[in-house]
Amino acid sequence: MSREKKIAIYPGTFDPITNGHIDIIRRAVVIFDKVIIAVARNIQKSPLFSVEERMDLIRHVINDIHATEIDSFDGLLVDYALEKKAQAIIRGLRAVSDFEYELQMALVNRKLSEKLITVFMMPHENYSYLNSSIVKELALLDGDIESFVPEHVLQQLKKKLFKK
Ligand code: COA
Repeated sequence: MSREKKIAIYPGTFDPITNGHIDIIRRAVVIFDKVIIAVARNIQKSPLFSVEERMDLIRHVINDIHATEIDSFDGLLVDYALEKKAQAIIRGLRAVSDFEYELQMALVNRKLSEKLITVFMMPHENYSYLNSSIVKELALLDGDIESFVPEHVLQQLKKKLFKK
């Protein structure tokens, strides 16, 4: 009898994807048969990149990581995850400061669906202080972000911010 495929959703804003996110994706594919990177559409934030641009950036920089799929979603994460027949939601825990919000989200999601398990992963410590806003701010102020994002993301950020 064939084993049920283990599918995980890695949701987020990804505005833009950073090396910290990629680090999590590389860890996730080790334990899941498929990891769906799901870009949130309906979010309170005002992203710099459109959903399609964010998906293109992700596609470009993780093309060497097999067993991944890139998608976007609207509405409740648990509904989307169940529709995709996923068993797990992956979240990165960078520092203690992430914990409270992540715990709250995991518990709400569990209340909404007992079927889904939230799996927390720690990115490499080099990325534990990183987020997309810092990357955008540094890029805008011409700070060095070479070690935080792949070259392609760096180029697209410059293009977007400075129309270069
Ligand atoms: N490396 C670097 N940065 C990371 C990271 C990592 N491993 N993990 C997270 N981050 C950063 C992100 O870049 C982001 O930075 P920003 O705030 O500067 O944009 C920040 O940490 C927040 O992470 P993100 O993964 O984008 O989470 P979010 O809080 O913006 O999005 C959703 C969370 C989309 C998953 C959540 O809002 C959701 O599920 N929405 C759907 C509606 C729903 O179901 N709501 C009920 C949930 S309880």
